[in-house]
Amino acid sequence: MAIRKVARLGHPVLREKTREVSREEISSPEMRRLVRDMVETMHEYGGVGLAAPQVHESIRLAIIEFDGDDERYQHPDKDEGQPLLVIWNARVKVLDATPSGFWEGCLSVPGLRGYVERPSKIEVSYLDERGKPKTIVAEGFLATVFQHELDHLDGVVYVDKITDKTKLAFSEEYARYHAEEGEPPIAE
Ligand code: NI
Repeated sequence: MAIRKVARLGHPVLREKTREVSREEISSPEMRRLVRDMVETMHEYGGVGLAAPQVHESIRLAIIEFDGDDERYQHPDKDEGQPLLVIWNARVKVLDATPSGFWEGCLSVPGLRGYVERPSKIEVSYLDERGKPKTIVAEGFLATVFQHELDHLDGVVYVDKITDKTKLAFSEEYARYHAEEGEPPIAE
């Protein structure tokens, strides 16, 4: 396993539209190694998700994992945590467009936090690590993490979706002036 270098905002790979991957390719040694490296990289930098373009791979792959009792990301919506999800070729359908707002962060935009509103309930169809079709319905925190990661696969970064630019802040200023109970930042 290896920790991969994370692309930062401004690198063109973060703005590319990724390609889908065949089931045969998903089970290849190269892709299995990539998934393992992404998990190690996400753990190393303390993210709750990571998308393949962030490690310079322009393919439709993301991972999500977070601990329910991780103090950095405490939130009423994520009491139970989310065991590792390996998400290939994901497609999203909005089930409830009512906006749900969170302060987000991104391993590709280090040191910043921004407030983003996204649909509160979605359905995601994807292939799992074995290439098996799966569908998951996500709400609240998990829905936001999904949409943040899957946006990366279309060349979209969370800062694009900050509608109120006064709600973009460095982490320290976020903690000092913007953090409210129940509204912790998300690092992805
Ligand atoms: Ni991100």
